[in-house]
Amino acid sequence: MSKWLDNAVFYEIYPQSFNDTNADGIGDFQGIIEKLDYIKELGCNAIWINPCFLSPFGDAGYDVADYCRVAPRYGTNEDLKRVFEEAHKRDMHVLLDLVPGHTSVEHPWFKESMKADRNEFTDRYVWTNNVWEAPEGMGSLRGISERDGACAINFFSNQPALNYGFYQPDPEKPWQQSFDDEGPQATLAAMEDVMRFWLNMGCDGFRVDMAGSLVKNDQEGKGTIRLWQQVRKFLDAEFPDAAMVSEWGEPDKSLQGGFHMDFLLHFGPSHYNDLFRCDEPFFSKRGKGDISEFVETYKTNYNKTAQKGLICIPSGNHDMDRLARRLQGDELKIAFAFLLSMPGAPFIYYGDEIGMRYVEGLKSVEGGYNRTGSRSPMQWDDSTNAGFSSAPASDLYITMDPGKDRPTAKAQMADPDSLYHEVKKLIQIRQSSKALLSRGTIEFVYAEKNQYPLAYVREAEGEKVLVIINPSDKEQSFPYSAELKDALYTIGGKAESKDGTITIPAQSAGFYHI
Ligand code: GLC
Ligand code: CA
Repeated sequence: MSKWLDNAVFYEIYPQSFNDTNADGIGDFQGIIEKLDYIKELGCNAIWINPCFLSPFGDAGYDVADYCRVAPRYGTNEDLKRVFEEAHKRDMHVLLDLVPGHTSVEHPWFKESMKADRNEFTDRYVWTNNVWEAPEGMGSLRGISERDGACAINFFSNQPALNYGFYQPDPEKPWQQSFDDEGPQATLAAMEDVMRFWLNMGCDGFRVDMAGSLVKNDQEGKGTIRLWQQVRKFLDAEFPDAAMVSEWGEPDKSLQGGFHMDFLLHFGPSHYNDLFRCDEPFFSKRGKGDISEFVETYKTNYNKTAQKGLICIPSGNHDMDRLARRLQGDELKIAFAFLLSMPGAPFIYYGDEIGMRYVEGLKSVEGGYNRTGSRSPMQWDDSTNAGFSSAPASDLYITMDPGKDRPTAKAQMADPDSLYHEVKKLIQIRQSSKALLSRGTIEFVYAEKNQYPLAYVREAEGEKVLVIINPSDKEQSFPYSAELKDALYTIGGKAESKDGTITIPAQSAGFYHI
């Protein structure tokens, strides 16, 4: 079972914006290959690439037109295979993005499915029986097909929902199928073929888009859990080493479904936003944030899932504001001290390691809308277009951060005090301590409502590390008895332990053996 997740630190690559090697203004596979050494040097040993398949790009590639063919703008299938090979040469692993919930309207399956005459794809999507009946509680596509019916959509209106059935089909609505019916089973079999195709080519697993909403009218997720359990059987039989990471946001459910790891995200009940992305984030030095609800829900999830699988906390992703939109300077370093000392594999969104900013005021690109500002081209150096591309600036996929003081990888690599070096150091420390790796246990020792600091103990194989995180600009203390032995890491000064109280300086963090 994908042992490598135990010490994985991921780097998320949004391929369009990472590195362009043929001057068309869009990143490509060759660009990824050329930067694998950069990623490796940072300390990351795994990457997740956002969807890179044939697509009309109404949602940046989350609207697939052919699951088994890459988009020509990134290169060829052979080039992607080379990405796997080059990554493997460097002991790195690659996750592709599987989008099983919907396709684009241009997918041949959908075109067939729109035909009035019954064919192999008639039941591939969720259709009602007449155009005047919209599927309840879901948006739908209507009036675009010869077929008489409304097709449910899964996200944007150009993303028709693939049919995995309904949890408890309504007998009054004969078009609602059950997961066990032929149509939904054929959809799943087709998706398994897609997985088989890429796993055979050398990919190491998938990040699965919207994994928790495949079966419809399934409030508690029971139908969707069952679906993924079926996938697990297929993987156990054919690809036992494939790693499966879900965009679900409810680890107790996704891990039951056989995923190895689930994201906590900006949606769902996780309180993830309390950390970095609300008016008063916990990691702001103003010290007005609250970590307690995040910790409470984390504990609940952790207790339900600890022996079964992992929970991962990303620095950001292509759907949310950049970490640096609300945090600056040491706040970012302290945020990374937290991200890189929590259980589960950390995910670093490209550019977050250098504090890339959210680019304000951009027009939407490829269905990005407010997300566009977090998807601007990677800033490598001080050459043309920050080294991202030699195309004219007007041809770039998304406008670069126009700031003269925009951070670059090159400048930060040359500056030992930079965020880049802090992140690199934190990854090294994590990788050298069993307790800090993915599977070390966690016990929160201080996480009080509206209080600072946050403290927890990570433990594995007899090694115990006390992590203390104080983003606030005031010295803080909390009751805890422990002898602080050697410090694995500190920023902003050392904590002191005296008479059952630990005191930690303003804007500081530390990892101590106890
Ligand atoms: C996920 C993706 C997001 C996409 C959506 C629809 O949330 O991360 O970018 O728009 O699914 O596929
Ligand atoms: Ca290119």
